[in-house]
Amino acid sequence: MSIQLVTTVAGLRAESARLLGAKRGSSQGLVPTMGALHEGHATLARTAVEHNDVVLASIFVNPLQFGEAADLDRYPRTLDADLALLEEQGVDLAFAPSVEEVYPGGQPLVRITSGRLGEKWEGASRPGHFDGALTVVAKLLHYGTPAAGLPAGTPDGASANGGLPAYRAYFGQKDAQQLALVRRMAADLNFPVEIVGVPTVRAADGLALSSRNRFLSEAERDAALVLSRALRLLEERANAHEPLDLDSALALVESQPLVELDYFDVVDPDTLEPLAENCRETPFRGEALALIAAKVGPVRLIDNVRLSS
Ligand code: PAF
Repeated sequence: MSIQLVTTVAGLRAESARLLGAKRGSSQGLVPTMGALHEGHATLARTAVEHNDVVLASIFVNPLQFGEAADLDRYPRTLDADLALLEEQGVDLAFAPSVEEVYPGGQPLVRITSGRLGEKWEGASRPGHFDGALTVVAKLLHYGTPAAGLPAGTPDGASANGGLPAYRAYFGQKDAQQLALVRRMAADLNFPVEIVGVPTVRAADGLALSSRNRFLSEAERDAALVLSRALRLLEERANAHEPLDLDSALALVESQPLVELDYFDVVDPDTLEPLAENCRETPFRGEALALIAAKVGPVRLIDNVRLSS
């Protein structure tokens, strides 16, 4: 079946309800994106297709989460290629609304605030970014909520979610802070959706895939590899139950002149508070995330790895 494209919220709701009925489906998945899709997004979409009877993907470059107008204008728009990629993964419905469709009254007066969790790390260098991202994610989660009232005889899943189809939304683990915040928003505000984190997809040399990588020169792309190398070093030490020795991993990053480091730290996976103890000089125990962000040439890159020992 080929993918359908809708551009209005009414169209999305009508078509997703129709698909759910036609497939006698008991679950619906949503993959929110800003387009410029790559293999990382393909993995999100494939995972959603494996888990759900009906899968929707949104393509919307959300002005609310960009600091500077220039950044928003520069963001790549590749709708035809995006639709082809989503179709290949088996996504049923693509939702590509205009800014006016999502924000019919202009800038929304009432927004989601990401609180302390949204002010640190990425939030420190991109003030307001996570408030904007959470506001649109909240709207997208509402739009993608599966319709109630499945046809009689719908298989088991219809009973698993209080008679409603199961509802899941998919986010990349690469944006660890966004994922932590979306989970927190869904829990704090009782959104009836399961938030699924999908592992980061990397190029063969380790670079985490990102829509921004296309702006790196060859030399900058080579230099950027130091981010995933430094993370891997920490992962190896955690796996070996050794002290993480963050300072030596830091020195590795700082030895690369094309890389301007913003932050590199080991944090609690839920609160993202730094784990000052239990990481530097004593053997690592527990669960953590190592987070890194740096500017490489014109591009700000982020990456992270889960540490478990
Ligand atoms: O991760 C992204 O692409 C965006 O932040 C999201 C979740 C689609 C919201 O605009």
